[in-house]
Amino acid sequence: MTSRNFLVVLSLVPLLSTFAHQQPFHSEWLDQPDEYEFKWPIHKVAIIGAGVNGLIAYREFTGAGFEQLRVFERDDVPGGNWHYTEQTPLDAPIPNADASVGDFVPSLPPAEASFPYQENYSEWEPRWREHRGPKPVWESLESNAPAPIQQITEIPWPTGTPWHLPHRTLARYLRAFASFHGANSNDANPDIAYNTRVELVEKRYDEAGQEHGWTVTVKRLERTGPYSSTAIWWTEDFDAVVVATGRYNAPNIPQISGLKEWAEKFPGSVIHSRQYRRPEPFANETVLVVGGATSAVEITREINSKALKVYQSVRAPNPYLPYEAARLQLKRLPANVSVVPEIRHFHSSNSSIEFANGTVILGVTRVIFGTGFRYSFPFLPQFNNLSDSSSPHPIVTNGTHLRSLHEDFLYIEEPTIGLLNMNWGMQSFTYAEYLSLALAKVWSRKAVLPGQATLWRKYEQRVAERGGYGRHLHFLGADRTSAMIRFFVGWLNDAAVKFGGRQIDGQSKDLPEISAAWSRARYAEIVVQANASTLGNDERVASFDWIHGEDW
Ligand SMILES: Cc1cc2nc3c(=O)[nH]c(=O)nc-3n(C[C@H](O)[C@H](O)[C@H](O)COP(=O)(O)OP(=O)(O)OC[C@H]3O[C@@H](n4cnc5c(N)ncnc54)[C@H](O)[C@@H]3O)c2cc1C
Ligand SMILES: NC(=O)c1ccc[n+]([C@@H]2O[C@H](COP(=O)([O-])OP(=O)(O)OC[C@H]3O[C@@H](n4cnc5c(N)ncnc54)[C@H](OP(=O)(O)O)[C@@H]3O)[C@@H](O)[C@H]2O)c1
Ligand SMILES: *[C@@H]1O[C@H](CO)[C@@H](O)[C@H](O)[C@H]1NC(C)=O
Ligand SMILES: *[C@@H]1O[C@H](CO)[C@@H](O)[C@H](O)[C@H]1NC(C)=O
Ligand SMILES: *[C@@H]1O[C@H](CO)[C@@H](O)[C@H](O)[C@H]1NC(C)=O
Ligand SMILES: *[C@@H]1O[C@H](CO)[C@@H](O)[C@H](O)[C@H]1NC(C)=O
Ligand SMILES: *[C@@H]1O[C@H](CO)[C@@H](O)[C@H](O)[C@H]1NC(C)=O
Ligand SMILES: *[C@@H]1O[C@H](CO)[C@@H](O)[C@H](O)[C@H]1NC(C)=O
Ligand SMILES: *[C@@H]1O[C@H](CO)[C@@H](O)[C@H](O)[C@H]1NC(C)=O
Ligand SMILES: *[C@@H]1O[C@H](CO)[C@@H](O)[C@H](O)[C@H]1NC(C)=O
Repeated sequence: MTSRNFLVVLSLVPLLSTFAHQQPFHSEWLDQPDEYEFKWPIHKVAIIGAGVNGLIAYREFTGAGFEQLRVFERDDVPGGNWHYTEQTPLDAPIPNADASVGDFVPSLPPAEASFPYQENYSEWEPRWREHRGPKPVWESLESNAPAPIQQITEIPWPTGTPWHLPHRTLARYLRAFASFHGANSNDANPDIAYNTRVELVEKRYDEAGQEHGWTVTVKRLERTGPYSSTAIWWTEDFDAVVVATGRYNAPNIPQISGLKEWAEKFPGSVIHSRQYRRPEPFANETVLVVGGATSAVEITREINSKALKVYQSVRAPNPYLPYEAARLQLKRLPANVSVVPEIRHFHSSNSSIEFANGTVILGVTRVIFGTGFRYSFPFLPQFNNLSDSSSPHPIVTNGTHLRSLHEDFLYIEEPTIGLLNMNWGMQSFTYAEYLSLALAKVWSRKAVLPGQATLWRKYEQRVAERGGYGRHLHFLGADRTSAMIRFFVGWLNDAAVKFGGRQIDGQSKDLPEISAAWSRARYAEIVVQANASTLGNDERVASFDWIHGEDW
């Protein structure tokens, strides 16, 4: 990396004064030159997932001159999250499954089996449901970002497209994008394997015992009759792996005393938002919705007209997030919903629910957890560990956040693992383009990474600046998103001058105006309230900017 690049990097991550006095975290890397040398050349790349991020990565990598690309997608069509189905995920485990298997338990052949390995089953639906993982989208769901912001630059929405995008429109848009690049499920593209779930990614060693890339074990599930199916496992070797499996796979159900007993005593009465499809089942029910962000609030808005009564359990705002980020959605709660504090206990003996301030309510017949998701990559068992000092360094610990990543997208210890869309508080369609291009360039030697000592040092600084480990670690928000995009544009355009390649644009200039109009319509109350209660309060006024570019 040139000194000019290095300055760009540093200027975006101002040194905290405390760090000026500290030793770099991983001092053993200090004597390496400040340019990362890959341990092996990168010719073959696997992309896991064909949602918007995996598809954009496929496009970027296609043009970057790799010898082989493979996309593995567990579902039968592209589009990821936006593939709505009536099929719902199973009940979320209570308590949470370990983060290492929060999404699914890997399915592998017996140890002595040789590949390809096949098994035949006399059932289809239950196996397919487990394999594909139905997405957490409901029937009425529309985008919470306006169309001009939620788009892939290559295919802007046609003029006149309404800003609210129903999930079906987004699914079609992503299928069109996949088709345009020959990656749709009906394109018979040998690069792309649908119905194929990645079960294991493990380090590969060459004949000389040297680390050399990754071996990926996959499982394809195929229907063979009305009630029969077959599974085939095989392995493929790669030099680098892109994880584009999304953030919203493993449900999060908070640890609350008495909840397990309650769920057992009233089977089917407790669901996670990922299972929610429509309001009718909640007619005449007394519902407790847990959570104060988008899923919880939007579900409440929809069931409120059918239910007998809706309570909303909202906990104190996370101090590491901008206040409005933690509270914005609550402005959309209907007035006749009763907001209650965090839950202290579920008493299944007398069907009462007790809250943190001692208040007790009776008569709740349904509970919906809109309490979000956890990061979970069951196919990376080596990189799941609660201990930070484990070797290799963990990527997933308890699922609330990720570790050991450069700018939340590149695994520092072995930068041939890249992860897309692990941040939140940014627009995932647009952000994907910068990250994918960065991976394609770094791996094809059209851009250089700083050495590992620098990467670890920057990482430690970033963790400290953002208030340590936790869900807030990957939150960007408008200002940081803009800063990150400026960083990627500066770095990658500079690299293009040096190593060849096209120049890319930064954030659309229209974005603030579009965002402001959208936010005013969607969160009208907050504008009024911010005006009424915060005149002269720079902090609140500034935090209103935070809405710009959000993915809701
Ligand atoms: C309820 C809800 C509403 C949302 N609303 C919006 C919105 O309005 N606007 C917005 O911008 N964003 C929204 N999002 C965020 C949404 O996740 C992104 O829009 C976008 O879909 C993320 O794309 P992705 O490719 O990273 O992940 P995904 O779309 O989740 O795609 C990941 C893909 O990886 C596949 N996969 C996972 N594991 C494996 C494996 N082991 N092997 C093979 N394949 C695998 C999955 O099947 C999936 O197809 C919403 C999310 C939720 C949950
Ligand atoms: N297009 C749409 O209309 C739409 C609809 C739904 C979701 N989405 C998107 O989908 C993504 C996921 O959203 P999400 O709402 O499912 O998850 P989320 O954003 O992670 O929110 C989870 C919520 O649950 C709260 N929570 C966690 N534990 C709790 C507890 N013990 N008690 C009370 N509250 C608790 C969290 O509070 P803390 O903040 O304190 O952790 C947070 O408010 C977001 O990107 C969102 O924009 C979009
Ligand atoms: C599974 O069924 C196919 C025919 O559909 C057959 O060729 C194959 O041998 C069977 N495999 C096993 C392991 O039973
Ligand atoms: C809800 O309760 C009302 C009044 O008891 C009743 O008229 C109505 O049919 C009920 N609706 C459903 C869907 O059960
Ligand atoms: C809340 O008010 C709305 C009208 O504003 C009404 O349709 C709905 O039935 C009410 N819900 C409850 C649970 O009282
Ligand atoms: C507890 O919270 C509820 C809901 O906000 C409120 O109605 C009630 O008065 C509070 N109780 C106490 C003891 O503060
Ligand atoms: C319900 O039972 C619990 C003990 O299991 C008790 O502490 C609580 O007071 C009871 N609540 C009501 C409303 O009866
Ligand atoms: C976590 O790391 C520790 C220390 O390296 C190791 O002993 C342990 O087996 C690891 N745990 C898992 C689940 O891999
Ligand atoms: C997860 O780990 C973080 C950081 O170590 C910690 O602050 C948080 O309380 C943990 N959360 C859960 C649910 O275990
Ligand atoms: C809030 O205040 C700003 C700045 O004074 C003004 O431009 C805007 O129109 C106000 N919004 C509302 C809803 O009153």
